[in-house]
Amino acid sequence: MKRFLLFCICALTLPVSASEPASSPTSSMKEIEFLHWWTAKGEVAAFNLVREALDNAGVHILDLPVPGGGGDTAMSILQARAIAGTPPDLVQLEGPSIQSWAALGFLHQLDKVAADGNWQENLLPIARDVNQYQGHYVAIPITVHRLNWMWINRKVLRTYGLAIPTTWDELIDVFARLKKQGVEPLALGKEQWQIALLFENLAFGYGGADYYQRAFINMDPEALNSQITYDILARFRAISQLVKPGMSHMRWDEGTQLLIEGERAFQISGDWVLGELLAGKVSIPDAIGCYPTPSKQTGFIYNMDSFALFDSPRTHPETAKIVSQTLSSPAFLKAFNKVKGSIPARKDITLDGFNRCSVKAKADMLTASQTGQLIPSIVDSMAVSPLVQQATSSEILRFFNDDNMKPEDFILHLQNIPRGG
Ligand code: GAL
Repeated sequence: MKRFLLFCICALTLPVSASEPASSPTSSMKEIEFLHWWTAKGEVAAFNLVREALDNAGVHILDLPVPGGGGDTAMSILQARAIAGTPPDLVQLEGPSIQSWAALGFLHQLDKVAADGNWQENLLPIARDVNQYQGHYVAIPITVHRLNWMWINRKVLRTYGLAIPTTWDELIDVFARLKKQGVEPLALGKEQWQIALLFENLAFGYGGADYYQRAFINMDPEALNSQITYDILARFRAISQLVKPGMSHMRWDEGTQLLIEGERAFQISGDWVLGELLAGKVSIPDAIGCYPTPSKQTGFIYNMDSFALFDSPRTHPETAKIVSQTLSSPAFLKAFNKVKGSIPARKDITLDGFNRCSVKAKADMLTASQTGQLIPSIVDSMAVSPLVQQATSSEILRFFNDDNMKPEDFILHLQNIPRGG
C-alpha cells in the first residue's frame, strides 16, 4: 500500500528542484505554510517560539496544526497534500519518513546551511544520518525527546504511603494498591500510540536494550520467542487489566492534566509531558517527579523532531535559506528545547536554565550512549518504517484490548509483519 501511495505521489506531482526560482511573480517570497501536530499547551508554547523567530527573520508562518499526539494524522494529511501536488512548505517529520520523502525528491537540500553551521561536527551522532539522504542534509534537527519517563504525582503516593517503584513488578503492585484505594493509577488514553509507548517502555525496561533491539527491531525469532517476551506480555496484560476499566479516549495532554490534579498518580510518556507541566507552571520535580521507567541499566529511548522544507513552486531559495538558518541556530534551539521539555540535537548547546528533568535526561543519554542502552523508538517514528511501526503498534493495541489474545499469537503476528516496508 505504502509503495503504491508513494508511486501515486511520484506520478502526480513533479517536485521542482530548490534551485528553480518562484514560478509566479505574485508568489509571496516570505510566507510559508507549516504542517505540524503540536496543539497541546506546552507544544503551542514551543511552537510560538518558531513563529516568533521566523517573524523576526521576516518570514510569516501560515500555521497548519493537525491534532493527534505522535503525528499519525498529520502524516496522513501530508500524504494527501503531496498527492494533490500541494505539499506544505515546512513540515515536522521524524526518522525514516525523512528518508522516504527525500527519496521521492520532495525535500529541499540544506547543505550550504549545514556546512556554514558545521552540523556534521556540532550535531549529536544520532541526529546526523537521520537528517541526511545520500549524503545531503534534507531536514533541520530540532529536538531529542526521551520516551522512557515516569511522571509521578508525589502527593498521591505520599497520601497512600507508597514508595517510588524501581522495578516493573513494584510498579504493578503500586498500581494495584492504588486501585484498591479507588485511585486510577495511570494517566493513559485509549489511543494506539499512547498504549504502544507504554509497551515499548515495559519491553525495553524489562528486557534491556539488546533484547529490545533484537526482538522488536530486528525481529530475531529467538529473541521474540524467548521467555523474556512471555514475561513482558504477562506484565503488560496485568497492567492492562488494572487500568482498562478506568480508561477513556483522552489525549496525552488531558492525561497530564489529570496527573497534575491528582486524579492519576502516574503518566508513562515522553518529556513532551515536561513541556506541558512547565506551561502549566507546575513545580517540577517537586510536585510532579520525573523518574526513568524501571530498567536494569540507565536506558534512553529517543525520538527526534525535525523540520523539512518541501520543494514547491512557492519555495523561494532565499526564504528556504532564512528558515533553515534561523531554525538551526543554537540560540533558537536552546530557547525552543527548554520550553518543549526536550534536549537540543546539538552537542554545542549547554542546558543552563533548563529544568532538572532535562538535565537528567541529557546525563542519562550520555551514559546510555556509552553502555549501548540508547535506542530509537519503534512506536514513535524512529526505528522502523511507518508501515512496520503502524503494524507493530496495532498488534500491541490488540493484545492490550483483548484479554483472550494469546502471547504466542501476538508473537506470530509480529513475525508476519513484512519488513520490506
Ligand atoms: C511526538 C513528538 C513530540 C510530541 C509528541 C506528542 O511524536 O516527537 O514532539 O509532540 O509526539 O504529540
